[in-house]
Amino acid sequence: MNYRPLGRTGWKVSDISFGAWAIGGAWGNVPEKDALAALHQAIDSGVNFIDTADVYGDGRSERLTAQLRKSRRDEIIVATKAGRRLPKQTVEGYSRQNLTTWIDDSLRNLSVDALDLLQLHCPPTALFDHAEVFGMLDDFVKAGKIRYYGVSVEKIAEALKAIEYPNVQTVQIIFNCFRQRPADEFFDAAKKRQVGILARVPLASGLLTGKLRRDSTFAPDDHRNFNRHGEQFDVGETFSGVDYDTALEAVEELRALLPPGVSMSQFALRWILMFDAVSCAIPGGKRREQVSENCAASDVPPLSQETMRAVRRIYDEKIRPLVHHRW
Ligand SMILES: NC(=O)c1ccc[n+]([C@@H]2O[C@H](COP(=O)([O-])OP(=O)(O)OC[C@H]3O[C@@H](n4cnc5c(N)ncnc54)[C@H](OP(=O)(O)O)[C@@H]3O)[C@@H](O)[C@H]2O)c1
Repeated sequence: MNYRPLGRTGWKVSDISFGAWAIGGAWGNVPEKDALAALHQAIDSGVNFIDTADVYGDGRSERLTAQLRKSRRDEIIVATKAGRRLPKQTVEGYSRQNLTTWIDDSLRNLSVDALDLLQLHCPPTALFDHAEVFGMLDDFVKAGKIRYYGVSVEKIAEALKAIEYPNVQTVQIIFNCFRQRPADEFFDAAKKRQVGILARVPLASGLLTGKLRRDSTFAPDDHRNFNRHGEQFDVGETFSGVDYDTALEAVEELRALLPPGVSMSQFALRWILMFDAVSCAIPGGKRREQVSENCAASDVPPLSQETMRAVRRIYDEKIRPLVHHRW
């Protein structure tokens, strides 16, 4: 496992880290035993950074993470998120009172006195014009309730606006072979300000593992079933917002580029790590084997420039017209 600086925090995080949404909820049933095994495997593989949120399984993901931390001596940095408990996303919802409640709940779930990194969880675009919200986050840092804060965003415009606030340490954004625009329009600005980037949905909700087929089915409580067309939240969070059948065709073209001994998941993750602005990718994993396969991507040799150009060509031809202008 290799490690990269996370913004200006002084932390170095595993470049393949762990996304803890699926072990919380909205991805079908993941038994506690499997979830804990996946988490332990991550630490055994060198992961030292976990991304979770208060709403993942209504606190389940945070509580499992706390359980993991209790049973390990390793230093484990935990990023959580707040904001999605609001019944409707409004700027007013990000009030001092609500933020205090959400932070206190996460402190309790994670069994800590201070949160390592708190991210605003895809707040409305208008929030980024409200400096007072970032002022409140500064107050929580001063009060010792959070060490650092960052944002998770849907759109590049939000990311660019967020990093104008000097104490925003991290931006979490969708970035993968099917979502390449952040590299064109955001990474340089983030590097200039030394802002850490967490690449989320790195496997395009499993598409880039190469295992999905036209007739694959998903449990009723898996968002790949219930949010395929954005019924519950931003459609970009499910399969990166790419039309499923088109994505499967593009996956087959990507498969032809695999270096010997490298799996599709590892290829997709290594592609992300080719961008030095990225601090880490945060693939989800429901089972031990998935996590160990994903973590091994950190030590895959760099992809050739020819391969990188080929991935771009596939994106430009098949995917770009569907997504590039949207996020
Ligand atoms: N708004 C936000 O801030 C936001 C939104 C989305 C995600 N996130 C964060 O980003 C993280 C990662 O994104 P994601 O979980 O949505 O999607 P992802 O990492 O692209 O896909 C994860 C899923 O792919 C499958 N998988 C993973 N590794 C595999 C392997 N080696 N072989 C086969 N299948 C494998 C697993 O599901 P199956 O086995 O069921 O296929 C797993 O749950 C989340 O966990 C969360 O921490 C944040």
